[in-house]
Amino acid sequence: MSSIKPHGGVLINRVANGAERDTLLEEAASLQSIIVNTWAISDLDLIGVGAFSPLTGFMNEADYRSVVENMRLANGTVWSIPVTLAVEEALASELAVGQRAALLGEDGLIYGVIDIDSIYNVDQKSEAVHIFKTDDVEHPGVAKLYGRPSTYVGGPITVLNRPVPEKFNEFYYDPSETRRIFAEKGWKTIVGFQTRNPVHRAHEYIQKCAMEIVDALFLNPLVGETKSDDVPATVRMKSYIALLENYYPEDRAFLGVFPAAMRYAGPREAIFHAVVRKNYGCTHFIVGRDHAGVGDYYGTYEAQDLLRSFTSEELGITPLYFEHSFFCTKCGNMASSKTCPHDKEHHLTLSGTKVRALLRDGICPPPEFSRPEVAKILIEGMAEQPVN
Ligand code: ADX
Repeated sequence: MSSIKPHGGVLINRVANGAERDTLLEEAASLQSIIVNTWAISDLDLIGVGAFSPLTGFMNEADYRSVVENMRLANGTVWSIPVTLAVEEALASELAVGQRAALLGEDGLIYGVIDIDSIYNVDQKSEAVHIFKTDDVEHPGVAKLYGRPSTYVGGPITVLNRPVPEKFNEFYYDPSETRRIFAEKGWKTIVGFQTRNPVHRAHEYIQKCAMEIVDALFLNPLVGETKSDDVPATVRMKSYIALLENYYPEDRAFLGVFPAAMRYAGPREAIFHAVVRKNYGCTHFIVGRDHAGVGDYYGTYEAQDLLRSFTSEELGITPLYFEHSFFCTKCGNMASSKTCPHDKEHHLTLSGTKVRALLRDGICPPPEFSRPEVAKILIEGMAEQPVN
């Protein structure tokens, strides 16, 4: 097993099996049910398998308020993002503390049960400003928040059915599995890499810089809900596989998905991303420029600054910080302001919008920006996507 301790000390397991599952499923059929969407099901499942350790359920009021205001659970453990179950007020008024409710998917499947220990109303504007540092509805995280009811139901959960991935099943690993695999491979230090994008040369560069000082890379792309103009996960997955096959040593890089929804909460999400990767068994975690950011809401290195404000004991995983990286035509290689003395005019940087436009026109971005194998897959993927 991986030597790094899960966040909070214990890897949570709240997935029922065998007779316990049968009994709970039978009971759940006659319980009051709460309809859960894809996002809530993904949170439920990630809590169940321990990816969100030490969470054992959707947050109760005390944890929620403490997380929003202090970036800590009520017991003091560092936690930066609310993980909550929002329900319509009319339904909430039919629920009571102490009651068990079924968590019913829109597909009619019972995904789990919750033992309700808290029902509370929240001020969404205050949540938005604390978590996203803005209440601008143009921010995708704020828009999502405002689209939910403002009554939350908290309490421990038990998973009864797991969501089944439509594609790439073989890249879904629970934290207990990644921990076992890392140990079997003999890796003592593993760097986790979060991404919601195709891996371009800058990503590759910072990953490989990190790989020089650790045993292995855990490429852990987020494949849950993302905003509509992000590259779809199925296309990205093909590009990651091609990239690893062509440019990474097989015995030092491992691909497994992170099936969570993207919050776009910048600095706060960087903390969340780091502690969750600790639960998967990573010892190190890469944080580059504007981690989990969107638009101009966060400063380029704000996520790094926030992570630095916690002690290494509190985080338990070592962040590896990287400056904005690019290809420098004078250096003739990838670099950052830490390693390159040349002016900006020699630096190749393309905006996401520019890259998407090139790909849509079937044009490969320069190889200094993106590996041709990756660009080819993205062009094919874009051709299949409706234009936004
Ligand atoms: S994120 O929303 O998942 O953070 P993205 O997939 O673009 O977005 O980034 C993945 C990681 O790579 C993040 O840690 C981010 O800070 C880092 N990163 C992305 N582009 C660069 C770059 N050009 N230079 C340095 N770090 C970068």
